[in-house]
Amino acid sequence: MKKIEWLEDAVFYEIYPQSFYDSNKDGIGDIQGIIEKLDYVESLGCNAIWMNPCFDSPFRDAGYDVRDYKKIASRYGTNSDLEELVKKMHEKNMHLLLDLVPCHTSEEHPWFLESAKQERNSYSQRYIWTNGAFDKPNNLTAVGGEYERNGTYVISFFNCQPSLNYGFSKVTESWQCSTNSKEAYATQDAIIEVMKYWLSKGVDGFRVDMAACLVKNDDGEVGTQAAWKRMFGEVRKEYPNAVFVSEWSNPTRALKCGFNMDFYLDHGWNGGNGYHHLLRDQDIDLNTYQIKKDVSYFKTESKQSILPFLKEYLSNYKETKEDGYISFITDNHDMIRITKFFSLEEIKIIYGFIFTMPGVPFLYYGDEIGMRYLEIPTKEGGYHRTGSRTPMQWNHTKNLGFSSGNKEDLYLPVDEKHSTITVESALENPNSLYYHVQKLISFRHAHKDLQSINNFKVYYAKKNSKLFAYKRGEFLIVLSPSLNEENLKLDGEYEVIYSVGKYNLEFKKIKNITQAFLLLKRRK
Ligand code: NOJ
Repeated sequence: MKKIEWLEDAVFYEIYPQSFYDSNKDGIGDIQGIIEKLDYVESLGCNAIWMNPCFDSPFRDAGYDVRDYKKIASRYGTNSDLEELVKKMHEKNMHLLLDLVPCHTSEEHPWFLESAKQERNSYSQRYIWTNGAFDKPNNLTAVGGEYERNGTYVISFFNCQPSLNYGFSKVTESWQCSTNSKEAYATQDAIIEVMKYWLSKGVDGFRVDMAACLVKNDDGEVGTQAAWKRMFGEVRKEYPNAVFVSEWSNPTRALKCGFNMDFYLDHGWNGGNGYHHLLRDQDIDLNTYQIKKDVSYFKTESKQSILPFLKEYLSNYKETKEDGYISFITDNHDMIRITKFFSLEEIKIIYGFIFTMPGVPFLYYGDEIGMRYLEIPTKEGGYHRTGSRTPMQWNHTKNLGFSSGNKEDLYLPVDEKHSTITVESALENPNSLYYHVQKLISFRHAHKDLQSINNFKVYYAKKNSKLFAYKRGEFLIVLSPSLNEENLKLDGEYEVIYSVGKYNLEFKKIKNITQAFLLLKRRK
């Protein structure tokens, strides 16, 4: 894979555009708002942005139901605003990834409306339709009875998101196309055109939604990998520097077919990859939000060692370290913010890990100040995800500085709790999470060994111990999310260059490490 230089020191900031900053008082965040806050993102140390879908949409899944791939949704601004954002970011040497949704469109997309007509036309096979309104395909979810066309159509996520047709790995029915049929290629070509359109406007690449799910009945996702290889081949002929990060959570598959980065989450559809052992191993009732148990590694009281995570991670890492990067995230717009599960002390250790691991890290807006998860009613298909999508908390003025519009018009309510943390209050507190994040990112920028480079070596990891230490070049990172004091022998002389928590550094030994994150550098 071609080496993309800026990725070597990239730290991403994920922006959910509707909730970041409202520049025109309509209660919804917008692109001009992002432009106004670029200095803020930059001062945090983030030099790249992933922006969630900003395209024309009926917003039944917050924009992951695209109606027009080439038009910015009017609530966010215009196509020229987007171009202005790209220009301003490039002036600051920052990079922008848009969110590409290639698996499905909105049911209101003109391609779909054409395909739903009974009379055949050039879009009839852009989606996956069976031969009769009562025929439901095996292993796939399909909807019938909504349109004139006598068939059911396969969906990817919600009913409003019909699946685009990239073919079937094994064709077993007359209505299925193969992956190398002209219909499947026509879908690929349409998405290639969308990518090229935005790349021609200066955008640096894409985060790719449900990247693993293009081809249907696809054992081992081999058909989907082939589709990406072909699409990347076409796009990179013209745009060799285009960057892609996948929502695949299987680096071995994603990075081998041309993605530059893959998010390391556990999605039910992939089986495990060890991530959930770190910070998502809790049992939560999504109706009452009661946490019944939490056995995640980073939970202070849990007995979990780092080994179950490492077992899965190391094989993924070893297999892909020449191909691209694994991306850890603090949270994203689909997850319950970690402040729901972890204390400030615990989060400081978690961030210590995220920002010192190899690969390219992603920070979700508001996580730098520890924004809370709000238990609020659903909006735009968010359901339990809605509580992680509330407006950014800038200061203690009207609507916490997110919008000077009317409170009733806000996209989602702001967190009104009296003690609510804001950027302004975080900046006044030297012990705030904000400064911790800023420091961690600044160490990353300052030392090549702490950047994306795949130079990871486990130094200490044992069953029955929560101590975990790893090396990255001349740096040693020590984590101890536990109240039990533990000791660590060193293989040389080190100095601590940054730490949170308790420890005593002696000659070639660290003693009494408790609830700590330590960044050490080998003495020359
Ligand atoms: C994953 C996205 O992150 C999520 O927000 C969306 O609802 C689904 N894919 C469907 O596009």
